[in-house]
Amino acid sequence: MFVLPKGVRHIPGHLDRPAQQTLLDDIREVVRQAPLYRPEMPRSGKPFSVRMTNCGDLGWVADKTGYRYQDRHPVTGLPWPAIPASLITLWEDLTGHADLPQACLVNFYDSGARMGLHQDRDEDDFSAPVLSVSLGDACLFRIGGIERGQPTRSFRLESGDVVILGGESRLAFHGVDRIYPTTSTLLKDGGRINLTLRRVNRS
Ligand code: SIN
Ligand code: MN
Repeated sequence: MFVLPKGVRHIPGHLDRPAQQTLLDDIREVVRQAPLYRPEMPRSGKPFSVRMTNCGDLGWVADKTGYRYQDRHPVTGLPWPAIPASLITLWEDLTGHADLPQACLVNFYDSGARMGLHQDRDEDDFSAPVLSVSLGDACLFRIGGIERGQPTRSFRLESGDVVILGGESRLAFHGVDRIYPTTSTLLKDGGRINLTLRRVNRS
């Protein structure tokens, strides 16, 4: 039987199609104000295959000097737009965490994009979970333990699915092996959007 590591919750189809469409409209407005850009790996400067932007008080950025949170878009220099109310409600409903999310990373995957196994560990507060929402084409999501080299398993994420990494899986390694093109009609030109909500600072 397929068992997820403790602390990982996968809620297939949590958002129905109308809710996905509403959230997509909200994200389009975010991207209009804070355009997607292509981050670079620290040191090597190798470009990510995923394009990114953020909303919230803080946004996660990557460039040659490292990974960090900052309050401005690295290309426009403008503050990030606010996290849409629909996402705040989702956080409140599903995490039960006392504090609101400070950052929402918006990842856009075209058909060839992927994301290597990594931990989300640039936050000061690991007591809050990471809440992730998928929109558009399906992907093969991979999850492992909290040490690199521990066994991993993969499963498919579809448009409208939510994944929560919390508790003992807050620092679980995870990544995206591949996108399954043309598996959703939500995005007119295809591709996958992933949104991750996080607390950054201790309250
Ligand atoms: C991430 O780890 O930032 C994204 C995960 C995903 O795209 O599902
Ligand atoms: Mn991550």
